[in-house]
Amino acid sequence: MTVRELIQQARIDRVEAEILLADILEVERAWLIAHGEHLVAEPALTLFTDHATARQNGEPLAYVLGYRDFRSLRLGVNRHVLIPRRETEHLVEWAIECIDVGAKRVLDLGTGSGAIALACKAERPGAMLTAIDCSVEALACAEANARSLGVQVEWLESHWFEQLGAAQWDLVVSNPPYISASDAHLRQGDLPAEPDSALIGGQTGLESIEHIVEHTPDHLVPGGWLLLEHGFDQADAVTASMRDRGFQHIRSRRDWSGQPRMTGGQWQP
Ligand SMILES: C[S@@+](CC[C@H](N)C(=O)[O-])C[C@H]1O[C@@H](n2cnc3c(N)ncnc32)[C@H](O)[C@@H]1O
Repeated sequence: MTVRELIQQARIDRVEAEILLADILEVERAWLIAHGEHLVAEPALTLFTDHATARQNGEPLAYVLGYRDFRSLRLGVNRHVLIPRRETEHLVEWAIECIDVGAKRVLDLGTGSGAIALACKAERPGAMLTAIDCSVEALACAEANARSLGVQVEWLESHWFEQLGAAQWDLVVSNPPYISASDAHLRQGDLPAEPDSALIGGQTGLESIEHIVEHTPDHLVPGGWLLLEHGFDQADAVTASMRDRGFQHIRSRRDWSGQPRMTGGQWQP
């Protein structure tokens, strides 16, 4: 079958079909468009059919491909980790600003695929990154990404701060689960395929965030920062929570679509 026929017959979005076929043939999408009459042979033919069927059945494109690009990195992903989001790239930008003004020891809480820790370390090799997750499978994915990228991060299995003793950092950054367990969005798009433990922040959606805000001061040096990603309608609640805990210089930032999606504060006891 030719490239054009395969793409036309796949019962999925045409661009996604092109992305899947380009990935299998290890060519650019532009090449496919210019070589519509190219004959696709086995095993690529069967692999493409399998991938297109998985996509048709609702498997997220990133899981079918096995990767997602995040800032300058190509990160391996699987069903044990959240698919890294563009919004989180802004959180990394903010973390890098903190590193540039002196934060050296950085903790990524709930690292998933390792996205935040790996991007910070890749872009600022002088920083010392520690990343934790409660999911052994997520840590395995993050460590595999670190190995293939040649990036050094300390990976630890921990329920938030529980296994971290009295260690302290200059910067704590986290994209924790922040969706309410009753939120209808959990049944939409890619979310049903992603791990609940990466998405759901209790009944209110704020339980993980509140836990992190409560305990972070025990692990921040004076002057250290906490940066949190959150839902588009949670900035006020996260700000209030940080203010009540005694954080200062609290501010929220917007993502590429103009939504206030991250809030940070400085710990000055
Ligand atoms: C929203 S995902 C973020 C993943 C990654 N940091 C990113 O931005 O793509 C939240 C992560 O927090 C982890 N997590 C959830 N509850 C946790 C807990 N109690 N302790 C440690 N990690 C937890 C999940 O396993 C998941 O990997």
